[in-house]
Amino acid sequence: MSEQREKFFITTPIYYVNARPHIGHTYTTVVCDAIARRQRMMGRDTYFLTGTDEHGQKIERSAAANGKSPQEFTDLVSAEFRALWDRMGISYDQFIRTTSPGHKRGVQAMFTLLKERGYIYKGSYTGQYCVSDELYVDDNTPGAPCPLCGRVTETVQEENYFFKLSEMAAPLLKLFEERPDLIFPETRRNEVIAFVKGGLRDLSISRTTFSWGIPVPNDPAHVIYVWLDALCNYTTAVGFGSADPAEQRRYEHYWPADVHMIGKEIVRFHCVYWPAFLLAAGLPLPRRIVAHGWLLFEESKMSKSRGNVVRSETILEVLGSDALRYFLFREIVFGQDGSFSFDALVQRFNSDLANGLGNLASRVLSMIQRYFDGVVPGDGVIPGAGELSHLGNANAPAEAAIAKLAGETIAEYNRLFEAFQFSRALETLWSLLSAVDKYIVEMQPWTLAGKDEASRLRLGAILYTTAEALRILCVLVHPVIPDSTAKIFTQLGLGNVAATDLNALCWGQLKAGTRLGKIEAVFPRADKSAIERMQQMEEERKSEAVAAASGAGAPHLPQLTDVGASAPAEIQAASPATSVSAPAPLAPEIAIDDFVKVDLRVGTVLTAEKVEKADKLLRLTVDIGSEVRQIVAGIAKAYAPEKLIGRKVVIVANLAPRKLRGIESRGMIVAASLGEDGQPALASFLEEVPNGARLK
Ligand code: MSP
Repeated sequence: MSEQREKFFITTPIYYVNARPHIGHTYTTVVCDAIARRQRMMGRDTYFLTGTDEHGQKIERSAAANGKSPQEFTDLVSAEFRALWDRMGISYDQFIRTTSPGHKRGVQAMFTLLKERGYIYKGSYTGQYCVSDELYVDDNTPGAPCPLCGRVTETVQEENYFFKLSEMAAPLLKLFEERPDLIFPETRRNEVIAFVKGGLRDLSISRTTFSWGIPVPNDPAHVIYVWLDALCNYTTAVGFGSADPAEQRRYEHYWPADVHMIGKEIVRFHCVYWPAFLLAAGLPLPRRIVAHGWLLFEESKMSKSRGNVVRSETILEVLGSDALRYFLFREIVFGQDGSFSFDALVQRFNSDLANGLGNLASRVLSMIQRYFDGVVPGDGVIPGAGELSHLGNANAPAEAAIAKLAGETIAEYNRLFEAFQFSRALETLWSLLSAVDKYIVEMQPWTLAGKDEASRLRLGAILYTTAEALRILCVLVHPVIPDSTAKIFTQLGLGNVAATDLNALCWGQLKAGTRLGKIEAVFPRADKSAIERMQQMEEERKSEAVAAASGAGAPHLPQLTDVGASAPAEIQAASPATSVSAPAPLAPEIAIDDFVKVDLRVGTVLTAEKVEKADKLLRLTVDIGSEVRQIVAGIAKAYAPEKLIGRKVVIVANLAPRKLRGIESRGMIVAASLGEDGQPALASFLEEVPNGARLK
């Protein structure tokens, strides 16, 4: 860590481990990677943080649905994110996991600090909660839809710790006023201001209904709200909460972050909650919070729950990581939603990379190889028209025009990149590339070969001009497509492109006499079969996932099973029996008042195991929204325990507890009785029904 250089600290959101990484996650990560790489080339002491968000009810349920303990499960999925980033050459400095001891310590330190400063109190809460977004919903109507994802919310009722968010509205509005640059783009800033002006309610920041989280200091029955836990990663990663003086210095050095890069759906957490926590804690605020739009596939947001994700690995295997990176930067207007399709990906790859940059590199390099034995010609001083005449340059204005355009491109590209206008920045760069292509066509350098000395000088001037433009293009676009530009740079005989000083980049730095490296094609053209291959790979990946979810065979984890996924095979096998046995006679009539006494609730099976020495019994734990119940059910002959995990069931919730084989059972699972032997078939729903919903 250098004390002299200016620091630059950039973060991605930390990704939930209930889903495997897809190209939506990749988008945020590569944007940060390119920004970080560029900052390093500008000499800044850069720190790039990414990682995984591993606590909370959603993760606990996904782990159960996959038959794993939460720790085992998070270890596996977190490793998958990390492996993908490594494979993509993501230049992160730290990969943080919220299950790490340092992070836990830091979150508890933050909780204690907020409490000591009077911003936390204990109270009771009844309201709606979206497990998918880990969001408390202001609407108190049971089953109200989540404002972020539209899913039905669950009713939670518990004694909680609260953060005095209501007191933070005025300081937040003052902050937004004083720091107009804090939230980018402007549209998001306006939304946030409107949201805060609408009034803020105190925020519940602890939970008691599950345990997969960081315990509240001195009150371990409570775990800390997953968003407080997760947001703190930005500070704990650089040493907040550590007793080690070196770590404390690291925190002082890097915090506050210069850029928090996020997707637009988590703006509220980052632009309201996070600044509110920091203001209350008396800690410095991030410099910028930058929100991008969504990657759409088949016109809706790419997400696991919609089942429309594209895996980055598919593209890596067929076209390489630079193809995906370039597409994401060039095709998506930063800040807005953008569509992904394999057709568009391949089209971009061919037009801009294979036929564009790749073709220019191979033309320029092979001509230098052929006409100058692989040594860059010219004297390296090509500043302006007149001075080129000593190279036999009758067309000096053409070279001067390229040199001038290159200089302007450097300035314009840097300006647009700094303003997060990546697509336009690349367009500008590719205009230079087209100008150089055009220049080659007009100059026809090949007609000058093998003639007199003046022609040779002229040929040298032309090839120098093209090689220098190629060098500049490579340096500028290196943060976006690091692999291929590194290769072209080596072919140009120039060593490590990342070591170029971006601040000093200008025309004329390429030295005549530089010996080229070995020339190879960098972007082989992709044809239609590339699209078909990628589509087929995605189909295969999806069918593997479905097979794993239905229990038909999980080749190796992580083939993740979503909580509440498809019905187990037993149900389908059992269903024909309903048509063969005659229905039992109806029970005597009852009044509605009798019926309402029976409290039937929806729950999700979290764990299931056989009861020792009892063939028919399973011991289940069932989450019914407000609590987790232990239930002993006589369904072992019909259901293997592992098939039940994650399954939605209906229970009689107000039945008096009883003991079966010495185990207390608090409720009864509702099932139909099939055939002669009364084989049970569990009641289930075709719709998504939240835990705790009452049947009436
Ligand atoms: N764990 C929280 C973030 C906590 S940060 C303190 C979370 N995780 S997530 O796994 O759901 O990742 C969300 C982020 O992934 C988005 O903000 C965005 O950066 C990225 N994306 C996920 N799907 C995406 C698209 N379809 N399109 C673009 N980015 C997307 O929220």
